[in-house]
Parts: sequence; C-alpha cells; structure tokens
Amino acid sequence: MNDYKRRRYKHLDVAPVAGALGAEIAGVDISRPLEDSVVAEIRRAFLDYLVLFFHGQKLTPQAQLAFARRLGEPMEYPQLKGLPECPLITPVVKLEHERVNFGGIWHSDTTYLERPPMASMLYAIEIPPYGGDTLFANQYLAYETLSDAYRKLLDGLIGVNSSLKADASRTREDRLRAAGLESKVLVGEHPVVRTHPETGRKALFVNIGHTTHFKGLSEDESRPLLEYLFQHQVRPEFTCRFRWQPGSLAFWDNRCAQHNPVNDYHGFRRIMHRVTLAGERPH
Ligand code: SIN
Repeated sequence: MNDYKRRRYKHLDVAPVAGALGAEIAGVDISRPLEDSVVAEIRRAFLDYLVLFFHGQKLTPQAQLAFARRLGEPMEYPQLKGLPECPLITPVVKLEHERVNFGGIWHSDTTYLERPPMASMLYAIEIPPYGGDTLFANQYLAYETLSDAYRKLLDGLIGVNSSLKADASRTREDRLRAAGLESKVLVGEHPVVRTHPETGRKALFVNIGHTTHFKGLSEDESRPLLEYLFQHQVRPEFTCRFRWQPGSLAFWDNRCAQHNPVNDYHGFRRIMHRVTLAGERPH
C-alpha cells in the first residue's frame, strides 16, 4: 500500500513511519513560498497519513504562519497568550524546573469548542537530549475496528467535552498562571462518531483529555462505555511515535487523530511554536 501511495506524489518524498498513521515528508522547504501543486500534494498526504513530519526546517514565526495559511485559517488558542510579536503562534514550553507538560494526556485539540480546530502545526525550537516524543493515534481505525453492534450504539450518541476536565486542565495551569490568565469553563457537545468533511470516513471523536460524559447520561452512567473507548482508541497498533529534532514540524489532523506528548524529560527544556488551524462544527 505504501509503495502505491508513494507513487502518487510527484513533488514530495513521502515515507510512512508506521502502519496506522504518520509520514515523514522530504524534498520541500516549507519556509519558502510554495507552488499550488506542492501545497495540493501536502494536503493529499495529510489526508492519507493524518500526521505529517518535516525535518530540518528553518522557520521564523512569520514563516510558520505563512505556511499554515496555505493549509487553513490560523486561530488563537483559547485561554493562552501567543507570542507578543505574532499572537497566532502559541509557545508550548516546559522549563527545567517544571514537572507538568502542556497537553500531556491523549486528546484531540480543544474539543470543548463549538468548532474544534481542523489541525495543528507544532515546530520544534529546543528539544531535550532524550524524551519529549509525541504519540499519535488513528481514530478512523479506532472506529472501524469496533463491532457493527457497538458502532451502531455509538452512532447516535453525543459526547460532552469540557475544558476543565481535571487531568487535562492541570497540564495548562502553569501556562495560565504565567500569562496571568484564569481558566474558565468551555463546553462543546459533539457526535461521538464524526464524519471527516474531506475524506467522508467516520472517526471516533471522544478523548480522555476532554470528554466527560454522553449527553443525556450522567458521568457515572457514561463511565463504563467511555473507559472502554479511551483505552481502545489508543491501542498500540493504531499509533505512531515521533522523535523530534530542532527544526522538525508536525502537522496533524485533529478530526481523525489524537496526540499525547510524553513527559519523560524532567530537568530539560522543550520549546515549541504552535499554530492552530480553525475547523468546522463536527457532524
Ligand atoms: C499539544 O497538545 O499541542 C502539545 C503537543 C506536544 O507538545 O508535542
């Protein structure tokens, strides 16, 4: 399958990193203005592989933003401050003395918004000497590997997503405090199974970081089903793991993939620049 897919790209060298999702893209300097045909191939690879990895890129905040604008509409990250000179770039930072990493739990980004983001782009500025990898999981596979009966049960359900679910909100506390901001509750209700607007495929759209319960059911009533889904949707065979280098950029599709940055590098700094791309209301 991968040789077949590789042949579909004229401008890019596309090397899959795992069976489930993820591909490294070479042969393109994303700091420069890109031809429409190259951008179209990046888009196709993004839909084929759900998360793309670029290495050795030299990106100023403006260049990262310019690349992001070729693929979507950058938006501000809710409740966090961007760079003063470039507010649409959100720094994602863990310092030497900090123990908690930002977003350090499986999640799809900010699903507590009415219109959760389509995609995110994370660019590595400073990387610890070891650790700090990011895991990704394919939510099409998570859905497709459930039995017909289980899929039917999920198809009609609505998930309630909150910005204040404890484990996820703890990962943002340091950043909110540093920015002098307070966390307020944002709640988004979305179908548990969403249809990807570009591929037409169905994907599981709950996540342990933000989904608290099913609409119409209490948290206690929702828990058994949700706990099963939270462990099922990140089975190792649905995942890939990305080892960062300074100058790497990951571009992932929040509509069909989840991610989880591994917090295993205490005592070292990890500094990233992130752009979030606006999305539509899930259906
Ligand atoms: C995030 O959830 O956006 C952070 C991902 C990472 O730091 O690798």
